[in-house]
Amino acid sequence: MKTIMQTINPESFRDEELEEVCRILQKGGLVAFPTETVYGLGGDAMHPEASAKIYAAKGRPSDNPLIVHIADMDALEDIAQSVPEAAVKLADHFWPGPLTMIFPKKEAVPKSTTGGLETVAVRMPSHPVARALIRESGVYIAAPSANTSGRPSPTKAEHVKEDLDGRIDMILDGGAVGIGLESTIVDLSTGVPTILRPGYITGEMLEDVLGEVQVDPAILSQKMNPNIVAKAPGMKYRHYAPKGQMTIIEGDTSKVVDEINRLVKEKTDEGCSVAVIATEETKDAYACANVRSVGSRATEGSIAAGLYDILREMDHIGAEYIYAESFEKDTLGKAIMNRMLKAAAYHVIKV
Ligand code: TXA
Ligand code: MG
Repeated sequence: MKTIMQTINPESFRDEELEEVCRILQKGGLVAFPTETVYGLGGDAMHPEASAKIYAAKGRPSDNPLIVHIADMDALEDIAQSVPEAAVKLADHFWPGPLTMIFPKKEAVPKSTTGGLETVAVRMPSHPVARALIRESGVYIAAPSANTSGRPSPTKAEHVKEDLDGRIDMILDGGAVGIGLESTIVDLSTGVPTILRPGYITGEMLEDVLGEVQVDPAILSQKMNPNIVAKAPGMKYRHYAPKGQMTIIEGDTSKVVDEINRLVKEKTDEGCSVAVIATEETKDAYACANVRSVGSRATEGSIAAGLYDILREMDHIGAEYIYAESFEKDTLGKAIMNRMLKAAAYHVIKV
């Protein structure tokens, strides 16, 4: 299959520019498109075959459910069996935006979209292209991140092309996304609202609106724990991982720098290809040929936005060993470290 590349300017585009992409979605085809979090791989959520094609294109296990993207609250009537008061409050505050909520599903939502579950994940994105696409096509768009299963999520159209060229109908290139980490997922289908995946909307922000919010224990664990099963099926898989072996070094900055420099020398002396994931503040402190700055510690948002691009770059460099600094695990740092720990398969050295 030839994948059509189409560029679109999110700040100024005409709805007519979306005619072809809408036709593809309406016919059950697959389209990658920008959202404010990461690029999504979209298909018609109410069309079982479109969902099946999404799993095939990504190489994704079919028990890992998709998020349904909507453009207005009325859509919930077609998708969710019931909408609790808490969800209406969260929607008031955070939709459109990087928040996904889990509801009991309506019969009409195919099980192939929900990975066999009786619940459905729903998000109303704020990105103007994503919103226009849902509105103009009249399709509720099932969209996982537009990467090959297991690889870092795409924050640029080039990342999508790298993974899915020839496997999907179209890539809509709207430039780099703003946030760079996937949406926060909150389960509202049982008792106390529970965070299943941390993201840009933090636990504190949710608590300000709802009062008590729980966190799925699988997110808090510092290592793979076979006894704790993640409630979001996707969170149980190895993910975001570069091909090289990644290790996170935790501790005071000067000790971290010393330890990384020691490890770099050890592996370089063995003849291995080594890279360091540093920050603007520390990038000059390393004696290594491949030092990449992920962003500035002064703005956590820059680190979130840069992380997946840097993880992909580790493969372009051909790094066999990757040593990364770590970040505070509060607010947005919780989401950043959640992704980094998975990328490192929970290899952490404390200094
Ligand atoms: O920001 C995002 O959420 C992006 C953009 C494209 O919207 N999408 C995204 O989708 O990250 P994906 O498929 O890569 O991640 C969806 C996550 C998976 O971990 C999946 O297991 C979980 O959501 N999920 C989906 N439906 C669920 C359900 N009914 N119950 C529990 N977890 C669910
Ligand atoms: Mg994903």
